[in-house]
Amino acid sequence: MQVALVGLGVMGKNLALNLIEKGLTLVAYDKNPDAGEELLSCAKSQGMADRLHIVSDLNDMVKRLTAPRSILLLVPAGELVDKVCTELVEAGVECDDIIVDCGNSNYKDGITRKLKYQNKFEFATMGISGGAEGARHGPAMMASGSEGGWERVEPWFEKVAASYKGDSCFARVGQSASGHFVKMVHNGIEYALMQLIAEMYQLLRLGTKRSPKEVAAIFEQWSEGDLNSYLLSISSHILSLETDSDESLVDLIDNKVGAKGTGLWTAQNALELGIAVPSLVAAVQARHLTNTCDTHAAKEMTYAAKSTTEVELDLEELKEAFLLASLLAYRQGLALIKGASRAHQWKVDLSKTLQTWRAGCIIRADYLDNIAQGVEFIDTLGKEAISLRKITGQAMMTGLAFPVLSSTQTYFATLTTPSNGHLVQAQRDYFGEHGIKTHSGEVCHLTDLVEIDAKVR
Ligand code: 6PG
Repeated sequence: MQVALVGLGVMGKNLALNLIEKGLTLVAYDKNPDAGEELLSCAKSQGMADRLHIVSDLNDMVKRLTAPRSILLLVPAGELVDKVCTELVEAGVECDDIIVDCGNSNYKDGITRKLKYQNKFEFATMGISGGAEGARHGPAMMASGSEGGWERVEPWFEKVAASYKGDSCFARVGQSASGHFVKMVHNGIEYALMQLIAEMYQLLRLGTKRSPKEVAAIFEQWSEGDLNSYLLSISSHILSLETDSDESLVDLIDNKVGAKGTGLWTAQNALELGIAVPSLVAAVQARHLTNTCDTHAAKEMTYAAKSTTEVELDLEELKEAFLLASLLAYRQGLALIKGASRAHQWKVDLSKTLQTWRAGCIIRADYLDNIAQGVEFIDTLGKEAISLRKITGQAMMTGLAFPVLSSTQTYFATLTTPSNGHLVQAQRDYFGEHGIKTHSGEVCHLTDLVEIDAKVR
C-alpha cells in the first residue's frame, strides 16, 4: 500500500518513519528540501529507505501515486492547508482520492473544506496527539467522516496508532470534521490538566515550603497508584531535574506561557454552544495571565506584590482533591463533545473517543479506565469531594492563585448544591421584564405573583 505525506516538520517526519516501519510505501514532500533530506537520512540509518520516495514537488507526488490516491497533510493549520489542497487539485488529484488533514486545524475550517472540495477529492480530517515520540511510535488518532477513501487507509492507521491492551487508538469518532473537534477538546483538557498540576506544585512549593525535588517525589508516589498519567509523570521528572550547580531546572524558566490556539478554540466553542467548561476556560486564561505583565493595560496599572501564607496540608486529601479535579476536567471536555455532537448531528461515539485517548496521546491516564465505564461514577466520590472542597479552601488561604482548582471546585459545587439562579431570574425580570419560570413550570412576570407598588430606581 502506498500513501503520500505533505509536511515533514517534527510531527511529519516522525509519522513518516512510523508509516514506513508499519510496511507502507511512502511518497513524501516538504517545501523545504532539507526536511526531505533529513527524513531520507533517518530512514536510511534505520534500514527503511527502500520504501521511501522524496519528491521535489506536488506534481511529481501525484504522478507517482497509483489512483485512487491517499494523501496525508501535516502542515500548519490555516491557509497553508488550502494552498496545498489547491496545488494538489492542479497537480491532478481526482474525485476518489482521499486527502486527510492531520494537523491541528479548526474543525470549522474542516466543515468548509469538505464542501469546497466535494467534487474534486474526498477531504477528511484527523487529529493526532502524542508529540514527536507519539508520531514515531504510536500516536492517538482521532479521525472522522465517512469518505470512501477511509476504507483504504483505516486498516493501516489502526497499526500506525498506539494500542491499549490490544485495541488501536485510531478511531473514526463521528461524522464530518468531529475528529478535529475531539482533538481540540483533547487539547482543552490538556491545558486544564497541565495547569492543575502546576497549581498542585505551587501549593506544595510555596504553600508548604517544599523544594521542587520534594514535590517531584510526591508526584512520583502518586504516579505509582491510580493517578498515573503521562502529564503527571513528565511533571515529576521535570521537577527532579537540576543543573550541575544543584539549581532546580524550573527556577531557570520564565513564567510566560505560549499557546498555539486549540485551548482558546475550546473555550470559544464551549461559550458559543452554551456548555460550561470552567476548568478548561480557566486554564486558557491562566496562560493569558502569565503574559499580562507585557500588555498595555498592565503597564498602566501597578500590582504591588503581596505576601503569601503557609498552610498545613494533608497529603492524602491533596491527592484525593487532585484526582477528583482531574476527572472533572475530562468530564467537562466529554460534555462539550457530547453537546457539540448533538448540535452538529455528528453522532460522536464517546467510547471510541476515550479509546483513542487510552495510549499515545498527551492526556492518557490510568483513570480513563474508570471514565470509560461511565462518568457517573464521579458523583459517588464522596471522600474526594470533601477533600476537593477543603484543599481548595486551604489553597485560597495562601493568597496564591489557583484558577483551575478553584474553578473546578466551583463547577462541582454548582452542580451538586442548591442553585441561586432564582434570584438572577428575578433580577432580569425586575429591570427588563424578561419573564421568569416558576417551580411549577409557569412562565410569567414577578408582577403576576406579587404586587410591586414602585420599583427601585
Ligand atoms: C498533542 C499536543 C500537540 C501540541 C499542542 C500544544 O496532543 O500532541 O496537544 O497538539 O503540543 O499544539 O498546544 P499549545 O501550543 O497551544 O500549548
